[in-house]
Amino acid sequence: MHRLVHARRKNTPKVFHGRSSRIYDLMSRWVLRGMYRRLAADVAAAAPQGGAVLDVGTGPGVLLVELAARRPDLQLTGIDLSADMIAAATRNLEPFGTRASAHVGDVTNLPLQDRSFDLIVSSLSLHHWDDPDAAVPELARVLRPGGRVHIYDFPSAPFDKLTDAARTRSVLNGPSPTPTPIRTGVPFLRCIRYVMSS
Ligand SMILES: C[S@@+](CC[C@H](N)C(=O)[O-])C[C@H]1O[C@@H](n2cnc3c(N)ncnc32)[C@H](O)[C@@H]1O
Repeated sequence: MHRLVHARRKNTPKVFHGRSSRIYDLMSRWVLRGMYRRLAADVAAAAPQGGAVLDVGTGPGVLLVELAARRPDLQLTGIDLSADMIAAATRNLEPFGTRASAHVGDVTNLPLQDRSFDLIVSSLSLHHWDDPDAAVPELARVLRPGGRVHIYDFPSAPFDKLTDAARTRSVLNGPSPTPTPIRTGVPFLRCIRYVMSS
C-alpha cells in the first residue's frame, strides 16, 4: 500500500498539514508506538554519550519522544517542513524541557549550524523528499566529523540517490552503506536502516 501512497503523494508534504497532521500524530502515538520504540532502541545504541541528535522530517516527533525517554543524556532536535507537524512535535516533546526542541525547516536548507550533530536520524521521511540529492550536502554540513546518518524508510525509498549524491559531492564517503532490515513489529510494514558516515 505504501507504494501507492508514495506514487500518488510523493513530494507533496502539504498532506502533512491541518487535519492530516492531527491524524498522523494520533496514529504515531497510539497505533505505531511500538515501531518508534524499536527504532529508538536502535538509535539509542548508536548515539554517543551526551551527544546531539537531529531527526530530519520528524513529523510529530514520536521517535524523539521515545529516544528522550531512553537517553536523558542526549540533546535532541527535530526538523520538519510542516509547521503543523512541528506544533505537534513541540507538544509531544514538552515534558523533556530544554533537552528536546522542534523547528520548521527543509532538509535541503537546514536552519542549523555546521558540525553541530553527532548523529542524524530520519524515519519514513526520505521517500517524501523532493530533492534527496540536495539533502546530502546539508546532512554532511551539520554532521560532526566521525558522525553518522541513520535513515529508516520503506525498502522502496530512494536510498541509492543518497549514495550517488554522496559519491558525486565527495561527502559522507565513509564505509559503503549496507541496507539492513529493521523489525517494526507492525504487520506488512517493512523498514530498512541505511547508515552513512563521514
Ligand atoms: C511520513 S512522515 C514521517 C514523520 C516521522 N519521521 C515518523 O516517522 O512518523 C514524513 C515527514 O517528512 C516531512 N518532510 C517531507 N519533506 C521534507 C523535507 N524536504 N524537509 C523536512 N521534512 C520533510 C513531512 O512534512 C512529514 O512530516
